[in-house]
Amino acid sequence: MTERKPMSLQRLLDMHASGDKITMLTCYDAAFATLLEEAGVETLLVGDSLGMVLQGQASTVPVLLDEMVYHTACVARGRKSAWLIADLPFGSYQQSPQQAWASALRLVQAGAHMVKLEGGGWTAATVRFLVERGIPVCAHLGLTPQTVTMLGGYKVQGRNEAAANLLKQHAQELVEAGAQMLVLEMVPAALAAEVTRMLPIPVIGIGAGVGCSGQVLVLHDMLNVTPGRLPRFVKNFMLGAASVQEAVRHYVAEVKAQTFPQDDLHSY
Ligand code: KIV
Repeated sequence: MTERKPMSLQRLLDMHASGDKITMLTCYDAAFATLLEEAGVETLLVGDSLGMVLQGQASTVPVLLDEMVYHTACVARGRKSAWLIADLPFGSYQQSPQQAWASALRLVQAGAHMVKLEGGGWTAATVRFLVERGIPVCAHLGLTPQTVTMLGGYKVQGRNEAAANLLKQHAQELVEAGAQMLVLEMVPAALAAEVTRMLPIPVIGIGAGVGCSGQVLVLHDMLNVTPGRLPRFVKNFMLGAASVQEAVRHYVAEVKAQTFPQDDLHSY
């Protein structure tokens, strides 16, 4: 078993600055937390994607805060060194910054180092409220699955100039409010690379091209156990791997070497 130095916010900022790519996967239980960390994954996301991949829901919308707290506690017990981020589920932070604080507190008390919330504009005040009171926040822009109905489906975001400018404005506002990480989902690779260069904080891409500070995928997607058709940004890392551990090690190696994601296969 490899002993790794615990990941910290400062190290993540340094990795962003130096161009050392950050590896992230979603994780929902203790066994996988240990396995992923042993295979070299530096940051774990207890994503509300668990609604779809664990619970069989059609979207992330029905996921409850109690469920996120339960899975965060499971992952926290299995990890030793990885940075642990937990999603604030839909309905647990939209009402007011005070509601977001009460929800985020439960995730942090379950073992999360950072909470993630979706959207730009109105979220800046909430991010500021949490960060000023000591809870690190990861923002999430681009395709935001909790509001997929408003977006009209799982579509690439920021394609035209106005949408790209709005995304950049929201990213800047979130940084000014204190966000220390940003997830960009399903945006053109050129836009994601520009946002990554523009911001002082790590930008983690999913369907956002190789120019981000790091990459994240849904664990079940990259292990090819999610039923049905997957988005083009997913790569099946079980292909050619003798075990789950080996598949995850390949993912880490490819993110570090910038051979995943590929422009022509996994990007927009
Ligand atoms: O819920 C989740 O797994 C996520 C990732 C897709 C970034 O938010």
